Amino acid sequence: MKINVFNTEDEVLNGLANYFVETAASSIAAHGQFSVALSGGNSPKKLYELLASPLYRDKVEWNKVHFFFGDERYVPNTDPQSNYLMAKKALLEPLELSYKQIFPVDTSLSPEEAAKKYTTDINYYFAGVDVRFDLVLLGLGDNSHTASLFPHTPVLHDKTASVKEVFLEDQQVFRITMTAPLINQAHHIAYLVYGEGKAIAVHHVIEDKKDIENYPAQLISPKDGDLQWFVDHSAAALLKSK
Ligand code: 6PG
Repeated sequence: MKINVFNTEDEVLNGLANYFVETAASSIAAHGQFSVALSGGNSPKKLYELLASPLYRDKVEWNKVHFFFGDERYVPNTDPQSNYLMAKKALLEPLELSYKQIFPVDTSLSPEEAAKKYTTDINYYFAGVDVRFDLVLLGLGDNSHTASLFPHTPVLHDKTASVKEVFLEDQQVFRITMTAPLINQAHHIAYLVYGEGKAIAVHHVIEDKKDIENYPAQLISPKDGDLQWFVDHSAAALLKSK
């Protein structure tokens, strides 16, 4: 695991954008395409906008990139809460990609069916080869969740490399999420975390005692790949080893 600490949010975003370019180039050189699972929430929006900007858009062979979602809110894909809608506006539409390159979660189905169908879609995409994303992008909630692996939810104990529905009691909403085993099969996993509000969670996940019920992001440990953190000084403020 490598922790990349940057002085500012802007430097974190450029650091991860450069890493995205590098892993895309190496994946395409190795097997002709780049499969990436995007994260949602607020943090990655600026990353996606940066990748679609003149600074980076010509640095990736976008026609060889296939976009998945590490998790999705159980809302219509036109809802402001939708991770797909956020990525579509910030990255996918500006790059003028073919719809064939984009694999959204079908939230028109029931939560359970949406999860099952996404599992099927992913397995079909990787048919004949290992189900291993080239890159999984992750964020970190201030309660130490990642993707939609939330504290004290049954999905934390799921041993299958798949996609599952999660009901969040406190918010009374469903989410659809890749399980930790599926994420951990990736070649590369990168966290994007910035801001002082994340410092306690970053400390819990990286340095605190093993406690996946309370710090689910501790589940993320690639089986045969590399894990990198891209954080700013504020988010890394409580780390002893940085
Ligand atoms: C989501 C994300 C989630 C996110 C964290 C951090 O659907 O919300 O996948 O895991 O990465 O909640 O969110 P912020 O970047 O908005 O703080």
